[in-house]
Amino acid sequence: MAKAIKTVSTVVSKVEDLGNDTKRFTLVDQDDWELPPFRPGAHIDVHLGQGLVRTYSLCNDPYDDRRYVIAVKREREGRGGSNFLHDLVEVGQPISVSLPRGGIALDQEGTNVFLAGGIGVTPFISAIRHLERRGRSNYVLHWTSRGRPVLTDMIAPAIEAGRIRLYDTTAQAKPVIAAIVGEFAGSGLAACCGPAAMLKAFEDAVSAWPEERKHIEMFTPPKVIARSDVPPYELYLSASQKLATVTPDVGLLGTLDALGVEVPVSCGGGICGACRTRWTEGPPIHRDRVLSIAERQNELIVCVGDCAGQRLVLDL
Ligand code: FES
Repeated sequence: MAKAIKTVSTVVSKVEDLGNDTKRFTLVDQDDWELPPFRPGAHIDVHLGQGLVRTYSLCNDPYDDRRYVIAVKREREGRGGSNFLHDLVEVGQPISVSLPRGGIALDQEGTNVFLAGGIGVTPFISAIRHLERRGRSNYVLHWTSRGRPVLTDMIAPAIEAGRIRLYDTTAQAKPVIAAIVGEFAGSGLAACCGPAAMLKAFEDAVSAWPEERKHIEMFTPPKVIARSDVPPYELYLSASQKLATVTPDVGLLGTLDALGVEVPVSCGGGICGACRTRWTEGPPIHRDRVLSIAERQNELIVCVGDCAGQRLVLDL
């Protein structure tokens, strides 16, 4: 695999069991320095050793620059990251994390409509704390959970102020996403993070909205797309002046790895943005869930990318 992203050394300062199979971890600099800054709704890769890297949204206020706070729901049938964090990570343990990436481009004037399913609330907690600290109330969160939601302590004033609608699906129907976002079709921002069915309903509801007014945050990468339909193409790396042929069995990321090029990789499925790379010749094939249409004009998510022509040139 390509080499991992540049990391920041942190140490676990607090582990809280919130119930409902969820733990909250607070990471700090080992000498209590400020940590690299982040935007509301940003995420970090957590390096758990032996190649295990998982991406989690930061749920504290970006103003709070001495901590990274993540909340992790145990996925018993998952790929192992949440079980590792729940079972093996303790206070005092060093943990490397990536520089924070991504975030939500909040609408400063219009309403920010957040739709969350379960632990998918984490990026919106960060955004809500950011807005509340600045005295802004131009948002509403519709938060669906199965049973008692956790992390409510982080946004208690917003709940009391009525800016958060809670839906316990063990006792009531799920909200109709199309109806919620339909109210804001003309202005503002809509953002969603939750399970696949919720994201699909959201994507359908905002399909006609301009890119800059919608934001989707995914937990897990979609199934890897078979690449056998893409014929071999030439790959040229302009910065390092390396040349290779990308074949369907090796793929673009595998070819970069074989060339010894360092590309940060985390999710490997086109959802975290760790591997975004500039391209200058293509056209590339985009299969990610990260880049906007404008960003795709000169960037490519290489872990799921390919070339639709005979030659792809990357700025590597
Ligand atoms: S590694 Fe996550 S998008 Fe490529």
